[in-house]
Amino acid sequence: MAAAAALLRQGSVLAFPTETVYGLGAVIDHPHAVARVFELKERPRFDPLIVHLADANQLAEVWTHVCERTRRLAERFWPGPLTLLGPKTDRVADLVTAGLSRVAVRVPAHPVARDLLLRVGAPVAAPSANRFGGISPTSAEAVRAEFGDRLPVLDGGPCSVGVESTVLSWTDAEEPVLLRPGGISVEALTDALGPIRIPAPDEQQRLSPGRLAKHYAPRTPVGWNATLPPSPSRGLLAFRAPAPPGYGATEILSPTGDLNEAATRLFAALRHLDRAGLEAIAVEPVPEEGLGRAIMDRLRRAMGKGNEP
Ligand code: TXA
Ligand code: MG
Repeated sequence: MAAAAALLRQGSVLAFPTETVYGLGAVIDHPHAVARVFELKERPRFDPLIVHLADANQLAEVWTHVCERTRRLAERFWPGPLTLLGPKTDRVADLVTAGLSRVAVRVPAHPVARDLLLRVGAPVAAPSANRFGGISPTSAEAVRAEFGDRLPVLDGGPCSVGVESTVLSWTDAEEPVLLRPGGISVEALTDALGPIRIPAPDEQQRLSPGRLAKHYAPRTPVGWNATLPPSPSRGLLAFRAPAPPGYGATEILSPTGDLNEAATRLFAALRHLDRAGLEAIAVEPVPEEGLGRAIMDRLRRAMGKGNEP
């Protein structure tokens, strides 16, 4: 842990675990390290990064102002998979926010991430540790599959949540707006806040530049099971047991149909099917409630634009 923290402090890039997915971290005060994160990922510079803090007391380093509502939300959901937006301080370079005036921040709950961030003592910008447009890594092994030995990876075991954080925009002037469904469900947020606006995909992308129609995509083409019936050359990503027979390879996300378990396994299952030499991957839709909303979001983007089950 000490060596990993020292690497980050010295301006190296390090992959580290969070409860959602592994991140590719760089301390925000090292512009070269932040630039290298974009290079390694082949990420376009218009796509802003999330800044990770050890705890909410560090917020003053990255936000000029913390509105009361945001503070209450942070108290309730941090540490955890919720990302909030606030007006950036000068310390946060334009490269981190892709020129936007607000910076996205979260306090991760993974004990290794927390320990690491405490030791580093500075905000760490970290996108998911995958090449741009690909499947997010939920294990150290998956990070190595993306980048080989081009960067050090801190192994914290498999991620418990398995989908990225929920990104929520909420300032004094506006109603809460969901920018990305993720590890905190819309139901949990609505419980805490009342109604949340869920913008149409086009508007989401305008408000949050990384929300591209095609993302989280394996190399193998992906489609809904309704259009890809069983065949030995096709794989199946099934939601629950029993899975229909006749596919060349099958991954079951949750035998009992538990959406949290399905989220945990989603990206590893997709990676596994992607390596199986199949012509296509058929996907079963999951119920759009709880973490099912984030799962369906990732599946639609794995297919590309306009894909309804
Ligand atoms: O769970 C997570 O959030 C993971 C772990 C590593 O923390 N990180 C992650 O980062 O998913 P990334 O870079 O893969 O996704 C960041 C998302 C993008 O959709 C981007 O558009 C949005 O956050 N975002 C970041 N900064 C923003 C900003 N200032 N305004 C609007 N959207 C922003
Ligand atoms: Mg990502």
